[in-house]
Amino acid sequence: VLREWLTKVQSLYHYVEWRPQEEPSEYEDEEGPKHWTNLRYEHVMKLRQAALETARDMWADYFLLVDCDNLLTNPDVLWKLMKENKTVVAPMMDSRAAYSNFWCGMTSQGYYKRTPAYMPIRRRERQGCFSVPMVHSSFLVDLRKQASTQLAFYPPHPDYSWPFDDVIVFAFSARMADVQMYVCNRETYGYFPVPLRSHNSLQDDADSFLHSVLEVMVRGPPIEPSVYVSVPEKQPDKMGFDEVFMINLLRRSDRRERMLRTLWEQEITCKIINAVDGRALNASQVQALGISMLPGYSDPYHGRPLTKGELGCFLSHYNIWTEVCVCRGLQTSLVIEDDLRFEVFFKRRLQNLMLEVKMQGLDWDLIYIGRKRMQVDHPEKSVPKIHNLVEADYSYWTLGYMMSLQGAKKLLRVEPLSKMLPVDEFLPVMYNKHPVEDYMSHFEPRDLRAFSAEPLLVYPTHYTGDLGYISDTETSTVWDNETLLWAGFRSGPKYLTDSSGMVNL
Ligand SMILES: *[C@@H]1O[C@H](CO)[C@@H](O)[C@H](O)[C@H]1NC(C)=O
Ligand SMILES: *[C@@H]1O[C@H](CO)[C@@H](O)[C@H](O)[C@H]1NC(C)=O
Repeated sequence: VLREWLTKVQSLYHYVEWRPQEEPSEYEDEEGPKHWTNLRYEHVMKLRQAALETARDMWADYFLLVDCDNLLTNPDVLWKLMKENKTVVAPMMDSRAAYSNFWCGMTSQGYYKRTPAYMPIRRRERQGCFSVPMVHSSFLVDLRKQASTQLAFYPPHPDYSWPFDDVIVFAFSARMADVQMYVCNRETYGYFPVPLRSHNSLQDDADSFLHSVLEVMVRGPPIEPSVYVSVPEKQPDKMGFDEVFMINLLRRSDRRERMLRTLWEQEITCKIINAVDGRALNASQVQALGISMLPGYSDPYHGRPLTKGELGCFLSHYNIWTEVCVCRGLQTSLVIEDDLRFEVFFKRRLQNLMLEVKMQGLDWDLIYIGRKRMQVDHPEKSVPKIHNLVEADYSYWTLGYMMSLQGAKKLLRVEPLSKMLPVDEFLPVMYNKHPVEDYMSHFEPRDLRAFSAEPLLVYPTHYTGDLGYISDTETSTVWDNETLLWAGFRSGPKYLTDSSGMVNL
């Protein structure tokens, strides 16, 4: 990849030097390609040192070090760092976890120390440039500053007695040279994968990197591969399901584009289901569909009846269940909504789970892959002989679930349109775990066999209250005269008599 890229771009640069080294391809003392032996550390230190010395020899003003799995997404990052006028300054890198490329504390042996200062910086509750004892992975060195001449990756300082690790060796040299390291978090600069344990495979590294690419898309526009490299062709599939349904409102093209792109990157194909837009439904259509609300329903948290968005959401899922069993007889399907983010190794984890479910011959109707547990203090029963699967307790959301043909039949059999409640309340009713007995009493039988992946495999892109949070079910405006309309609903559709759509009480 690097060779191909360099061949095409070297004319764009003042000077390019490439020092490939194919041999030796492994270290004497290594147990695998990810085993960090002292020899491997030493090799990396020497490479970094050679780069630093080359920069000094050519009188470079600055030296920017970027590890190859670091995705710098901010095109102005270099100018921004230069403007800080520091000897060593790092752009804070985001990751899927608390991990980043700086430390706020160090033990007297040179190891990482968690301090209360860390999270407020990592979460950008405090913004600016902060002096820290360690930066690594991506940072800028100002070679014009006198003190920078003392910095070294190799050999370790004569007084060095800390762990033999390239980042710690460099941080020690900065300390000895009286150079303060800084990390800046004023903007989003880039994203990098959380390092995996050494016995993980190179495939895990590749998938972890892929996950970084997906996470960047949660926050902003997708990052495109360089036009100067050829990208291996994608071979998307349905991951072993008969169909993968992705529910999307036609007018939310932003979400559709993002989801299609994230699925494509993971080599997953899907069928887009145009969500029923609750906002566009009028009372006579609702009546024609035979929809009425569950008597006595009110949202347990907001104390309000169904919104138009919830009505549309229910119908969207309902249409899929109908397609699954009435039209196509699909044995297993995956249903996902369009506002989710994927757990790292999503595809592999999902396929492994399905494999075990199949091998154990589990009788299942629905398996959540993303949800909100409503009774977190009760542990759920894990399923014997299947890793990462539990029997589902009362849960909210319909972000993602697997559905069997038998499951879809069970959901349709109870004729849910004639006693509607939000779809994520309906499902727990059907597996007999809804806390409100009164709701459950309207549905027989409630024998849905529901499970959940544990840990979950998908999460919402935004939580309520987050910057950028928009929910089509929780904020959509309800009928103009909502109260009147739903007052009619609660007593049954027979009160919705006026052909103009106005409610005639
Ligand atoms: C940069 O920092 C140095 C001190 O290290 C200071 O003397 C100099 O004026 C600063 N330059 C700018 C442009 O702020
Ligand atoms: C409801 O919507 C349908 C489809 O858009 C339309 O044909 C019908 O006239 C509308 N009914 C009322 C009462 O507005």
